[in-house]
Amino acid sequence: MNNVYFAKKLLEISEMKNKTRKLSIKKVKEKLKKRINKFRRYRFYVNGRVLDVGTGSGIDLLALFSISPKIEVVGVDISKKALKFARDILPKDETHLVQADVTSLPFIKETFSAVNVSYMLHHHPPKLLRRIIGNLTAILRQNGIMLINEPSVESEADALREEIYTLKYDLKNYLKVRRKASSTDTQSHLYSLVSIFDYDTMYPSLLKQILLENDLKIEHFEIITEKFDREEAKKLIATIKMQIKRSDIPNYEKVYLLDKSNALDEKLKLIDPAGDQSIVFKVKKTTRTLKERK
Ligand SMILES: C[S@@+](CC[C@H](N)C(=O)[O-])C[C@H]1O[C@@H](n2cnc3c(N)ncnc32)[C@H](O)[C@@H]1O
Repeated sequence: MNNVYFAKKLLEISEMKNKTRKLSIKKVKEKLKKRINKFRRYRFYVNGRVLDVGTGSGIDLLALFSISPKIEVVGVDISKKALKFARDILPKDETHLVQADVTSLPFIKETFSAVNVSYMLHHHPPKLLRRIIGNLTAILRQNGIMLINEPSVESEADALREEIYTLKYDLKNYLKVRRKASSTDTQSHLYSLVSIFDYDTMYPSLLKQILLENDLKIEHFEIITEKFDREEAKKLIATIKMQIKRSDIPNYEKVYLLDKSNALDEKLKLIDPAGDQSIVFKVKKTTRTLKERK
């Protein structure tokens, strides 16, 4: 496995630790209804042994228990802190929580009747994405169902053009800065700052291609566009301004960044921003999938 992957994963784990610290059972329960509706909408009524990869706070497992009470679940996450939170909100006897990297899962073939993946795949480059989907297909039983919900780019065409040109310009800048980043700590932060190392959004066509390579039958595909929350955006910009003002960066940098934040306020008055977009794939492991894998 690549060292950049490890450095980025370590940063992700520490970000997840901070996020989990701010979580409360009340906050999770507020979002629970939406998750229950998601499973109902996609008729993800499961039984037997169910796996949730990148389980985070355990919210999806909690939602699954409320619509399919007779299940035994396994939640996998790389973050110990997230699993500790999930442990506190999930039924003890029927839940197994495992700390592992999803790129090498510790389960034998055909263990699960269903697999749920929510907002986890997009953190991985295509090579690992192929490995993850391959592993998940292997541990799914015949006729098993997998539900995948991931953030998506709004326009694949725009995103691809942007990615190519950003790579060109950011690579040039990165090569200049790289020579000066001596400590490994600075270096790993560069991995999260500089967009050339990002895999933050999912291209639906690429995910579809990988699912088909694994002979999974696509039963349902949907693009979901959320409504943009203007009030939240206004609050966010106000918080950013506060952070800039309180920071210890030089005054001229503060002025520059505050101007930029003020411009965001101005644009927000003129433009209706697009809401977040996500995709849902519901796939099935068929007899054909099995035959070709043997
Ligand atoms: C954005 S959160 C989503 C959590 C949850 N599935 C949800 O929908 O609320 C992504 C989760 O995936 C976990 N994760 C990311 N990469 C992982 C990996 N390679 N192996 C296991 N867990 C991973 C993170 O620790 C985090 O808890």
